[in-house]
Amino acid sequence: MTPADQQRFPPLAITLRNSTPAVIRPLAETDGNGLAKFYAGIPADDVLFYCPHPLTPEYALKNAAQAASPTEVVLVLETSGDSIGGYAWYRWKVGDVASGFGICIARSLQGAGAGKQLMSRLQEIALTVGPPVMSLTVQKKNPKGVELYTKMGFRMIREQLRAADGEPEYYMEHRRLDHG
Ligand SMILES: CC(C)(COP(=O)(O)OP(=O)(O)OC[C@H]1O[C@@H](n2cnc3c(N)ncnc32)[C@H](O)[C@@H]1OP(=O)(O)O)[C@@H](O)C(=O)NCCC(=O)NCCS
Repeated sequence: MTPADQQRFPPLAITLRNSTPAVIRPLAETDGNGLAKFYAGIPADDVLFYCPHPLTPEYALKNAAQAASPTEVVLVLETSGDSIGGYAWYRWKVGDVASGFGICIARSLQGAGAGKQLMSRLQEIALTVGPPVMSLTVQKKNPKGVELYTKMGFRMIREQLRAADGEPEYYMEHRRLDHG
């Protein structure tokens, strides 16, 4: 997110359904270590569903270093104590109409509305500053993910097999209103 867009969409204070206060804000270049800690806490069951790249400290530092990139919107959900409890991103290539999307919420915060609130803010920002079509893949055996995306306005486009390992998945899209 460019510094100008980061100013345009400042941190947003929210309350989760379990009364936990949290803030949704753009990822910062200084978040490398916090993001590494968040990655390290993702349980193996969730890594099966959230695996865009190895969840190593090196990738955490690399992702944080790109925080001001003009071709991505990356948000973190921070709970008190400055700890990252959720992470969602929208990344694209210049000229593309569609883009990639990913989300992961810390196990301790799941089921309290964090996913919906983080996605809602990401959609608000990303569909303003990025391409009009948000796309994602979700494994068929991840009903929580499928339900969340359907509630957030994604449509099922097709079923397919994941290239890496043949795992059945859905390809889904969410289109900005002016893109049908
Ligand atoms: C999928 C994920 C992002 C959802 O985040 P979350 O904060 O738990 O979701 P929310 O609490 O906002 O719930 C959103 C919707 O998901 C569904 N959901 C949430 N928990 C559920 C559960 N235990 N069982 C079934 N559906 C569930 C509900 O439809 C819910 O809507 P509701 O609040 O109106 O009932 C989160 O579980 C996660 O990070 N999972 C591991 C990584 C992952 O699967 N990432 C997505 C890869 S494609």
